Amino acid sequence: MTRKRIGILTSGGDCAGLNAVIRAVVHAATEKNWEVIGLEDGTAGLLDRPLRYKVLTKEMFDTTIMRLGGTILGTTNKGNPFQFPMPDGTLKDRSNEIIEGIHELGLEAVIGIGGDGSMAILRTLAQRGKFGLVCVPKTIDNDVGRTEMSVGFETALYVATEALDRLQPTAASHDRVMVLEVMGRDAGNIALSTGIAGGADVILLPEIPYNIDKVAAKIIKVRDTEQRNFALVVVSEAVKTVEGSAKQMEYAGGEKRFGGIGYHIGEQIAQKTGFETRVTVLGHVQRGAQPIPSDRLVAAAFGVKAVELVADGKFDRMVAWSNRQVIDVSIEEAIASYQTVDVNGTLVNTARALGICMGD
Ligand code: F6P
Repeated sequence: MTRKRIGILTSGGDCAGLNAVIRAVVHAATEKNWEVIGLEDGTAGLLDRPLRYKVLTKEMFDTTIMRLGGTILGTTNKGNPFQFPMPDGTLKDRSNEIIEGIHELGLEAVIGIGGDGSMAILRTLAQRGKFGLVCVPKTIDNDVGRTEMSVGFETALYVATEALDRLQPTAASHDRVMVLEVMGRDAGNIALSTGIAGGADVILLPEIPYNIDKVAAKIIKVRDTEQRNFALVVVSEAVKTVEGSAKQMEYAGGEKRFGGIGYHIGEQIAQKTGFETRVTVLGHVQRGAQPIPSDRLVAAAFGVKAVELVADGKFDRMVAWSNRQVIDVSIEEAIASYQTVDVNGTLVNTARALGICMGD
């Protein structure tokens, strides 16, 4: 009997804990005497000829790699294969090349570690290419539905909270307002948790429209009524200006990413309160860290469960964290239920009860 051969890839923006998932998959699959093929740069390695991949063995995964941020397989968050940007500016469906690559490698199944966008692409590829797919949710944004946890979120939260811990003493030393802009795309999960964990006075989320006068009033209250000489403000990157426009940075090639709303809010706070204000945009620092223990644990449990699902032939499923257990849910459902902040949920209520201004 030939050995079972499975593929594994990381897709979308990187985050801490990806290598820990890869390690768990390789270890669990090796226990079953399977062969694991690491596909390089998401699906991009399958578009190239020769195909780009590496055979992953247990020996490669002493515990060193598990401690590293990033992904040893590489990843990409562009180049949708169904609408692949060609050098002449046109878009081409190159999905067949990927499917051919998977068949050429003799992969019985693929474990895809990705966020909602990557999972949607992989799912369509699996349906068209008739290969088994199991997904592992990862994203610092924690916006994948049907799971309480995605790999990478806890580490990003740790980094952002540590940033607030570092900003507080300098704010207090200089009588300043410190604005910290954090990532998260359209979901304010990082901002909300960071703000509570790091003792913010104001948290602004894309899910809750804000009034800048209320933000200013809170900061004036901190200074005049509470007699405190500093204030901390956390702003999620997709928060809009009061006029309703998102702040984005344009990179080479015309690509746009959120970034810069913190400066806009900081300027308004300074104008309206007279408080000296400084702004920190945390950016990719939130992604590049060594995974903290809870991310390593989730990664290990997810990796093992993904291998079990492949062994059981249970495909089109995503592993998920629910009630202290790892379960599996349909990828379709997970993608359909994008998880933004519940504005009436426990964390928002907690923030409000602590007197944190949510901008409204
Ligand atoms: O989805 C993860 C994320 O880090 C977002 O929080 C952020 O908006 C985006 O990716 C940044 O993308 P890029 O790495 O392409 O700059």
